[in-house]
Amino acid sequence: MSTLAVYPGSFDPLTNGHVDIIARGARLFDRIVIAILVNVEKAPLFSLEERVEVARTVFQDQPQVEIDTFDGLLVDYVERRKADVIVRGLRAVSDFEFEFQMALMNRRLNPAIETVFMMPSERYTFISSRLIKEVCALGGRVHGMVPEVVEARLREKLSGHLAR
Ligand code: PNS
Repeated sequence: MSTLAVYPGSFDPLTNGHVDIIARGARLFDRIVIAILVNVEKAPLFSLEERVEVARTVFQDQPQVEIDTFDGLLVDYVERRKADVIVRGLRAVSDFEFEFQMALMNRRLNPAIETVFMMPSERYTFISSRLIKEVCALGGRVHGMVPEVVEARLREKLSGHLAR
């Protein structure tokens, strides 16, 4: 039986921490769908189309990684896709409380879906999309923390601010 995993998130933008989790997930599951949330609460830096394009570029050579978008309840999307597992990354204990709450809420909403937590390489535990945007906007260098395509797009968006 082949297992399909869904890795949901805002991915605004995709970081090397996300890429690391996806690589680990792709080794564990037959297929993994990067499910990009349509409605990020506050205005995202990258549009949905841009976030999809970035993910397609980064994973273009990995046929077992699919890029999709979703709106509404995550468990409804996972059920529609007939997926088995939700993958979430845990960087630190501070992530745990909210992730635990979400996993148990999702389980209550649909007991057939399991959440699997994966740890990224310790090299990436300090990286978050929010900090990447803040550092970039203030002229800091994010080389090695995000895929090259993200770095280039951040540079375009925040031109003049990103240190080389
Ligand atoms: O990258 P993020 O912002 O940490 O991802 C959060 C995400 C997309 C996984 C979460 O907000 C989500 O699942 N949203 C969809 C709406 C939903 O199902 N809400 C109830 C979650 S318990």
